Amino acid sequence: AGIQVHAELAKPISNTLLGVFFEDINYAADGGLYAELVQNRDFEYAPGDKQGRDSTWNSTHSWKVKGNGVQFAIDTVRPIHPNNPHYAVVTGGSNGGGVVNAGFDGMAVTQGAQYHVSFFARQEAGKSAKVLVQLIDGDKVIAQAVAEVRSGAWKQVSATLTASGSAANAQLYIQPMVNSIHLDMVSLFPARTFKGRKNGLRADLAQAVADIHPRFVRFPGGCVAHGDGIDNIYRWKNSIGPLEARKPQRNLWNYHQSMGLGYFEYFRFCEDMGAEPVPVLAAGVPCQNSGSSAHGGGQQEGIPLNEMDAYIQDVIDLIEYANGAPTTFWGKKRAEAGHPEPFHLKYIGIGNEDLISDVFEERFTLIYKAVRAKHPEITVIGTVGPFFEGTDYKEGWDIASKLRVPMVDEHYYQTPGWFINNQNFYDAYDRNKSKVYLGEYAAHLPGRPNNLETALAEAIYLTAVERNGDVVSMASYAPLLAKEGHTQWSPDLIYFNNTTVKTTVGYEVQKLYGINSGTSYLPAEVAVNNGQDNVKKRVAISVVKDAASGDVIVKMVNLLPVTVNAATNLKGVSIANTQAVKTVLTGKPADKVCKPVESTCTVGEQFVTSLPAYSFTVIRIKTK
Ligand code: AHR
Repeated sequence: AGIQVHAELAKPISNTLLGVFFEDINYAADGGLYAELVQNRDFEYAPGDKQGRDSTWNSTHSWKVKGNGVQFAIDTVRPIHPNNPHYAVVTGGSNGGGVVNAGFDGMAVTQGAQYHVSFFARQEAGKSAKVLVQLIDGDKVIAQAVAEVRSGAWKQVSATLTASGSAANAQLYIQPMVNSIHLDMVSLFPARTFKGRKNGLRADLAQAVADIHPRFVRFPGGCVAHGDGIDNIYRWKNSIGPLEARKPQRNLWNYHQSMGLGYFEYFRFCEDMGAEPVPVLAAGVPCQNSGSSAHGGGQQEGIPLNEMDAYIQDVIDLIEYANGAPTTFWGKKRAEAGHPEPFHLKYIGIGNEDLISDVFEERFTLIYKAVRAKHPEITVIGTVGPFFEGTDYKEGWDIASKLRVPMVDEHYYQTPGWFINNQNFYDAYDRNKSKVYLGEYAAHLPGRPNNLETALAEAIYLTAVERNGDVVSMASYAPLLAKEGHTQWSPDLIYFNNTTVKTTVGYEVQKLYGINSGTSYLPAEVAVNNGQDNVKKRVAISVVKDAASGDVIVKMVNLLPVTVNAATNLKGVSIANTQAVKTVLTGKPADKVCKPVESTCTVGEQFVTSLPAYSFTVIRIKTK
């Protein structure tokens, strides 16, 4: 293949092009990125959390009694907070027994590591009670401490445990050495969280996300953002403030959402990674404007118009929570959570892949106009609805154009062939209309693997996204995380269990794009010998320049079953060092594990690179 780069035609492209999509799907938050090890710490699990109202999903889920003469009941008479109505009453602990929490598939504990245990408790006024807390692995005690409860009112007590051994499946044992005690918010966190944050994120998983070098993070979905009925819409105010006062809810992916990883933790995670937050809020309508059976059985549904003012105020309040001075009502709440500085929110998504109907349009328009009027500095991202082949999101785009929405969210999950054949998707997009946020995409094969074939199809498509980086401002693969044994949706980018993080081939592609992004695009022509159209489309390149480092980065994808020698002409690029860093990801199409291999290569104004069959090659060149 011959590649002719036209450095003189360089055009600026988005510097926020590659980001990540976080949704609490596949146990991505509770039991996943959120480092809490206790499952159902607040005793708020409910049968309705599971489809079909599974009665085992109740306040005692994940808890059991250990020892004789101990009783474990749930009460609601005097809760810590109305949002957290259930608590445990443990009686008979003085007989030598207690309660055990099983965690999320157990608790992974590492020898020598410290763990912070805490709980709210109260007991008979004026008396003091000792509570033994242990990490147990079967019959073995691997850590223990004694906490003291002195209060007749709810009070939080805490202790630090140091593990004397490692265990993949430990449990937390609590033995109140008193006749009766009330317990709630029983929590266990590893002392080591990502960036050492309190109420923080699992260090290894968060690091894997950070390693992509995402320029933005979408949150909280996906469908979780708009829910499957109007009372399942994610309300950001339920997710901030003291943990015991947050309002948990049913996760439409069929489990319980504690809200422990809420908006504060999300904004902080973005800041810790140097990524822009891109919160997505419901456009006043649930998924496909359609209520679940409990909400009107498939009727078109949205927040009643007479409640929209309050809903719009919630959206505006989120901006104050993120950016307002600590003297403002919501800015004060952020400051109280430990972050007086603003989070510098610049974007807000309104709507997620919604059915574009009158119900939607009416509500979206109200929210959009209100946010624009009050916060013209915020880029509002609209939605153009689900993708149907051939429709080009027409109705959604009509609304966006009418309202002059600055950016719209497009989603598509398609076959690798679709991605290969649609590299021109954005070439003809009108540069004077809304910019695009490609908010969800992934290549899907039967059986839904994440393998080299899907990853290279995505890599090829991303060369076209970079080429169109003047109209596509952001792109995020979806979904991001999936816990083994709890996966509702495949493929995902990062799989994990309690001890191991398993990154995919698709992850490697995202990471290579994330760490090799550019701020300008250098147009290039590719001429492939034997150039039949279907052959040509399987070799794609993108050349970008990164303003900060001055590096020119050449990305080359070869989805052909044969090696391709690429003769590149970089005329007009002033090369500072003829030794460049070359990274190659290659293997067989069905490979689910491939790791990039780095080496140095010699480059010049003209140089030839051998692109292995089924490969993605990135060459990073120093320029003057
Ligand atoms: O990414 C998984 C789901 O796909 C999202 O929740 C939804 O927006 C889309 O349909």
